[in-house]
Amino acid sequence: MADKYTVWQNATVVAVRPVADGVQRIEFAPETHVPVKPGEHIDIEVTLGDRTDTRSYSIVDGSESGDRFALSVYRSPVSRGGAAHMHALQPGDQVRLTQPLQDFPLRVGAESYALVAGGVGITAMLGMARVLRALGADYTMHYVGSTRSRMAYLDELAAEHGDRLVPHITDEHGRMQVADLLASVPRHAELYMCGPIRLMQEVRRLWDRDDRDPTALRFETFGNSGWYESQPFVVEVPQYGAEVEVREDESMLEALERAGVDMMYDCRRGECGLCEVRILKLDGKVDHRDVFYSERQKEPNTKMCCCVSRVATEGARVVIEAS
Ligand code: FES
Repeated sequence: MADKYTVWQNATVVAVRPVADGVQRIEFAPETHVPVKPGEHIDIEVTLGDRTDTRSYSIVDGSESGDRFALSVYRSPVSRGGAAHMHALQPGDQVRLTQPLQDFPLRVGAESYALVAGGVGITAMLGMARVLRALGADYTMHYVGSTRSRMAYLDELAAEHGDRLVPHITDEHGRMQVADLLASVPRHAELYMCGPIRLMQEVRRLWDRDDRDPTALRFETFGNSGWYESQPFVVEVPQYGAEVEVREDESMLEALERAGVDMMYDCRRGECGLCEVRILKLDGKVDHRDVFYSERQKEPNTKMCCCVSRVATEGARVVIEAS
């Protein structure tokens, strides 16, 4: 299902530099100048071997006129291949990308805010924190990382936000307890988060357990972090007579499209549930990487969001019914 409202354009890479271990900041000069708002992202074409695909990245910051903006991309061990392409970009390179897209808007006017960023999820939060500071809002920004050297923009954030920034650095303070973090968040606060699936799932679980307002919990994910390393597996769709191998650097949705199966989708990030497939038979276990289903819905392994979730066992086979 293509999005007819997405506007693609050309852009030129104007600067690149590392901002943390494994994290590259890449600045672009887009053809069309649109000022960036907090929570926005772009989709960008990436080359994966002999094919072109798209990836989504949060916009870290942009100029007032919209003639420049920056992304920061982490190249993780479980990257689906797009990060390698992004890290190879150099000044002068031409790319195809969308104008800024908004799926994670900041609602202005709440009594209090908690921002929770894990790892490179900070890229979705920098702009929000800056706006909240400019508005004089009551906010706290929790930034979770394994080690200081892997936490992009940490020093800049500390200088900008002072005590409102609360770093949780595992190798300095031990593993953060999500329950303690949530206990510090006032009940009337809105919480915005972006980070690894484990962190977000735990925040969601405790948010529900504490019977907090579900509309006050907002999150964004790009579906590239899982519980297990990505492995190749086989998917079979009897209703289409199709069988295809899902490579480790592609999603099940991408593999099904490659096999000519007409699939429904929207976000391609594990958020909307539109790409749901029913699992008829599974040899192996599912690595649920979406934030659409609750834990209870995930547990029986009877359905999965095929844009991000995978079969965790190498060479395993899953038989599905596509909607
Ligand atoms: S397309 Fe939205 S969850 Fe897969």
